[in-house]
Amino acid sequence: MPEQHLDSSNTYDSAATEVEYIGEETEGDLERKAELNAIADSMREALKGRRVLEVACGTGYWTKIAAEVATHVVALDISPKTLAVAQSRALPPESVEFCVHDAYELASVQGTYNAGLANFWLSHVPKARVQGFLEGFHRRLGEGSMVFMADNLYVPKSGGTLVVKRGNPDSFRLRRMPDGSMAEIIENYYDESSLLPLLQPYAEDLQVSMGNNFWWLRYRVKNIK
Ligand SMILES: C[S@@+](CC[C@H](N)C(=O)[O-])C[C@H]1O[C@@H](n2cnc3c(N)ncnc32)[C@H](O)[C@@H]1O
Repeated sequence: MPEQHLDSSNTYDSAATEVEYIGEETEGDLERKAELNAIADSMREALKGRRVLEVACGTGYWTKIAAEVATHVVALDISPKTLAVAQSRALPPESVEFCVHDAYELASVQGTYNAGLANFWLSHVPKARVQGFLEGFHRRLGEGSMVFMADNLYVPKSGGTLVVKRGNPDSFRLRRMPDGSMAEIIENYYDESSLLPLLQPYAEDLQVSMGNNFWWLRYRVKNIK
């Protein structure tokens, strides 16, 4: 099969109708399902009664859970096809809005928020853009906002071939696309020791949980200069 190295937004756009990002991968794996349930419980607690700005919402798996407890959710993704799948969940339109929007351009998002949600996104952010994303995300949310994030831990022999390139700080996963071709998608793995220095400049009351498959965390945005 020919290999492609695609911009991740295009990659996801072409895969959107095929992939339920979370559900598909946890089929038949009780430990992963139990950890996802723990993430959902922690997220419900963190986002209860809040106005949530969700970035890279994908097919809306976490949007649906956030909408159970939040007063309002604005869920953004760069891929219109993926958002069309999210829209088909028919979540209450008075409390959930889906918008095509770039996670690196959050200053132009309308509305006021006191919580941010970014699940299974950080791993897809190129290392060269992580600081820019975090800066824009926290500035848009503002001091005192609650932040919730979750993502994959590196699990050997899981998730397809990991590709590391000399001189490139990002790692990639080889994924088969719906048309049968192979594409490389950025997948950078974090653990507690790499998450803490990244988030501490923005975070107060940071609580990090490590499962065997996923990490998840919550904190309040501190006053950033
Ligand atoms: C692994 S999926 C995660 C989706 C969802 N958060 C979940 O956990 O099911 C990553 C998502 O990031 C979106 N994406 C990629 N680049 C983006 C960007 N620059 N701005 C916003 N979304 C982006 C993709 O379209 C895709 O839906």
